[in-house]
Amino acid sequence: MMLSEEQISFFKVNGYLIVPGAMAQVLCRKVRELMWQGLPMNAAIQADDPVSQIGPFKTSDESADTRHVRQGYRWLNRFLGVSPEVINLIYSESICAMATQLLGGQLRQAVADGLPMGSYGNVWPGGPTDPATGNEGARGVYCTLPHGNKAVEPDQCHTDGHPFQLGVVGLIGDCPQGGGGFKVWPGSHKRLYPTFALRYDQPRIPYYDHLPSYKGIVHSPEYLQEITKLNDELQPVECWGKAGDIVFWHHRLAHMAGYNYTSTIRQAVLADFWTTNLDVFRTTSAQGDMWRDWSEQVQQCNGGYSTALAVEQRL
Ligand SMILES: [Fe+2]
Repeated sequence: MMLSEEQISFFKVNGYLIVPGAMAQVLCRKVRELMWQGLPMNAAIQADDPVSQIGPFKTSDESADTRHVRQGYRWLNRFLGVSPEVINLIYSESICAMATQLLGGQLRQAVADGLPMGSYGNVWPGGPTDPATGNEGARGVYCTLPHGNKAVEPDQCHTDGHPFQLGVVGLIGDCPQGGGGFKVWPGSHKRLYPTFALRYDQPRIPYYDHLPSYKGIVHSPEYLQEITKLNDELQPVECWGKAGDIVFWHHRLAHMAGYNYTSTIRQAVLADFWTTNLDVFRTTSAQGDMWRDWSEQVQQCNGGYSTALAVEQRL
């Protein structure tokens, strides 16, 4: 399975690309099984009982371990991100070949049974887990429980702060529309790219106890303005689909984890791709041609695609 010229054009223009049927069904099923096997023996949530899967998690099922989070509506198993099964699934030969078509260069290799994301905890006190610190595999298997009768919440986009080049979200179970699929703001990568001070990183101010008013992530005023505009003016695309479907997304693309308003649990593998040149690329100017680190094919494609492809891409 390789990407067509048209698919590459779509990715360049919109910053994301859904590739249906990119993962083997039997491996998807295996990883779903591993997810349920990773629960404590006496868990209230059960694989064969959909009612037990309606969120939020019961207090007795909760876990604050950053390598296996179960809180509210989110169930994140990061231990599985370094399991051979997940690595074979999301860093398969064909997915790596497609990622290389986009990125060029040499892909960084994931390490089976290596250190999972969350091994070093939070990126700052009380902050999120840093996907870039001590993560030798994929980010992990991320599930979103059905929201039940919880009120609909407004969508709110963000970009990720750690250095990588290409993200992947792979559905390991069917995810109907409204079912917590990954949400992307098409074309936002091109609008946000010029607002960053660093090419791949996100500047962060250390936490000083005696200077509490200024700390953590630093966003440029231009970035914040653009994010507000994206939230106000642009309708996100929801990447719903079938088990085996994946979506590639540009590292500066605005996105969010969708809320799950169906009765089906959302199950997906999240992973990052980058090339062995990233450590050099990240030292270079943030401005200039945003595609200069990408493959020749991406740099040269003309950005044209058919209406049929746009429909397949939920645009
Ligand atoms: Fe994110």
